[in-house]
Amino acid sequence: MTLLASTDTLVVERLGAFHGARIHGLDLAQATDEQIAAVRAALVEHKVLFFGGQDLDPDSQVRLGNRVGELTPSHPVIKGVDEAHPEIYALDAADNGFADIWHTDVTFVRRPPLGSILRAVSIPPVGGDTQWADAEAAYASLSEPVRRLADQLTAVHDGTREFGYYLAQRGGNSWEGEDVARLEPVEHPVVRVHPETGRRSLFVNPGFTSHISGVSDAESRHLLDLFYAHITKPEHIVRHRWSEGDVAMWDNRATLHYANRDYGDFRRIMHRITLRGDEPVGV
Ligand SMILES: [Fe+2]
Repeated sequence: MTLLASTDTLVVERLGAFHGARIHGLDLAQATDEQIAAVRAALVEHKVLFFGGQDLDPDSQVRLGNRVGELTPSHPVIKGVDEAHPEIYALDAADNGFADIWHTDVTFVRRPPLGSILRAVSIPPVGGDTQWADAEAAYASLSEPVRRLADQLTAVHDGTREFGYYLAQRGGNSWEGEDVARLEPVEHPVVRVHPETGRRSLFVNPGFTSHISGVSDAESRHLLDLFYAHITKPEHIVRHRWSEGDVAMWDNRATLHYANRDYGDFRRIMHRITLRGDEPVGV
């Protein structure tokens, strides 16, 4: 059974019990203001959206991003794909552009992105799927005493874990109007309250969270292992097999993702843009 819901503006097919939806019959480059508003609402409701058969190029991807929200630079450390597109972060397997660790985009800054819009530019013939985990469903399915514990915790996020080497080798980019020469660790609540829905999520990720604050190293490791194992349970995940022309859009405040690195020497190129977000708020 597919779960199709047609509103006046969008045809939405739900893909998972908690999150994930395919939007049918919408050309993102030609969308009306009403359709963009409906996409923005669906993004918050379904957390990750898929649009097939799109014909975006760098210009129209940036135009789309500017209609859905406000764009950030490509990345705090990595410059844009070219001078004309400082907003586009190219993930190219030929240039070490992998994301085979569970993460939420750019949580190592004070105001991590609200969301990301990813366009498949070149897809390997096999492999290269992306998976998204629902951090709200994960929080909700913890037992009540563990939720209560998590509510009180804060964690440190440190971008040098993934990007320190790159920064040292190639120098940084700019972010929030400042040149990035170093990545200072930041602290965020472990349980984030979604600014639009009030829903709570587990806001820690193996890519960027270095430790839980105010507990011992061993306690931090065990707590993070507990949260990560729980977040990535199969029932919290939707998986996408990419086709040419696919665009994915996710709410970066409520999800984590992982790009499978299972395509050998084939090339995989994706173009990502990110929407400006706000400072995470705890319980
Ligand atoms: Fe990512």
